[in-house]
Amino acid sequence: MTRINRPATEPKDTSTTQGRILIVDDEEVISSTLQEFLMGEGFEAATASNATMALELLERFEPEIVLCDVQLPGLDGLDLLDRILHTRPETLVLMITAFATVENAVAAFRRGAQDYLMKPVLFDELLAKIERLIGFRRLVRQNLALRRQLHLDQAGLDGLIGNSQVMLDVKNMLRKVGPTRSNVLISGESGTGKELVARALHTLGVEPDEPFLAVNCAAIPVELLESQLFGHLKGSFTGADRDQAGLFAAAGRGTVFLDEIGEMPHVTQAKLLRAIENKEILPVGATRSRPLKARIVAATNKDLPVEVAAGRFRADLYYRLNVVNLRMPPLRDRAEDIPMLVSHLLARHARSLGKPISGVDNETMRRLQATVWKGNVRELDNALERAVILTDGPLLTPDDFPTDWLTETDPGETGDDLRAFLAHAERAHIRRVLARCGGDKREAARRLCLGLSSLYRKLEDFQESDRG
Ligand SMILES: Nc1ncnc2c1ncn2[C@@H]1O[C@H](COP(=O)(O)OP(=O)(O)OP(=O)(O)O)[C@@H](O)[C@H]1O
Ligand SMILES: [Mg+2]
Repeated sequence: MTRINRPATEPKDTSTTQGRILIVDDEEVISSTLQEFLMGEGFEAATASNATMALELLERFEPEIVLCDVQLPGLDGLDLLDRILHTRPETLVLMITAFATVENAVAAFRRGAQDYLMKPVLFDELLAKIERLIGFRRLVRQNLALRRQLHLDQAGLDGLIGNSQVMLDVKNMLRKVGPTRSNVLISGESGTGKELVARALHTLGVEPDEPFLAVNCAAIPVELLESQLFGHLKGSFTGADRDQAGLFAAAGRGTVFLDEIGEMPHVTQAKLLRAIENKEILPVGATRSRPLKARIVAATNKDLPVEVAAGRFRADLYYRLNVVNLRMPPLRDRAEDIPMLVSHLLARHARSLGKPISGVDNETMRRLQATVWKGNVRELDNALERAVILTDGPLLTPDDFPTDWLTETDPGETGDDLRAFLAHAERAHIRRVLARCGGDKREAARRLCLGLSSLYRKLEDFQESDRG
């Protein structure tokens, strides 16, 4: 028999109750007596009569303390202790032993039990021991919380460079949202730091030591994506030669990062929605679901409301994921952050490539700031890495960067005449796109949203003016 009895007030939050206690004993009289007593003292208490039930309740009920009889039918108390500490190491276990098995109590201490009680259990002694354990636990928690508070600015936000107003807003939001368990949707162009921010959210979260598991929804075929996310049972499809837990289960109370969520196929969207709504995951081929505890952080470089309007993304799922929305600004909106980013990224490449680079010269910095980085921080990062590889000097100069980059629009070259400036910008842009496509004019025309013949005409004009 498995019972979960809560005090009449049904508090959800354990901070308002004394704590959750699981009693494992095959003698029903003992477990129900202890249960009643503990509930009377304001605890939530559940009972299990064997190891299997106990392990199931460990997941569903998440007890802070387990009172465990040493002698149980089937898997005995000491083996159960091992399993409990393996599954949820933070659980405090108090063994209950008959006088004859006091050696077992010693063994239990060695195997990680916090304390033991002799049968018959005396209520006063039980209460004293539990209060001591809870007090101990609270201290550990407070300690962790204090340490985290101290490191809040370092942990997670450290690697996120930028002091522009838009970045300060992002960091502020991260500090607020991080410690909640709400689902977060991060949107922004490619290379703006969506994954970096997802990791920061995890580090600033309440369970930073639990796993952060990322999956790219665009890169995996649909069947594989489902079994990666939800897990599968052995034999549920060809090739499933053993049970697989799936990321949601493996993440525990950590974070699952769903990258490129906009690419998630419709069937998987439906399954994900069900999982979020029911807080349960159903592995492929399974009939019994498991609890979903992980926090979900999703990212997209698409405009999801547009995808929703076009019927490509489920509106209900969008609302579930978009509890909090974090928009990553493109680098062009925060060019003032470029010098900081350059010195941060340069230092990293110099270190990993073992080159003594001291920085970039003024002209290079001016151009780095004037460039429209379509690939955002990632593109800037790649350009710097390449330059560090190629450079001879300790100071990077424009020569260390690709030649098409040097044709950057420069009002200085054209004077103040708007038309001359625009012509110059147009020309620089077309050449740059062409270079990015490896000279493929058809592809360049497509990216420029120009007809192929218009592109040819423009290129001819450029040549003519070069000659003239
Ligand atoms: N604010 C930042 N400070 C420091 N590094 C950054 C910042 N933003 C991005 N980066 C770096 O730029 C690179 C790209 O970032 P990230 O992978 O997080 O981008 P993304 O938005 O996930 O891109 P995509 O949509 O293409 O997957 C990474 O190397 C990351 O460390
Ligand atoms: Mg990414």
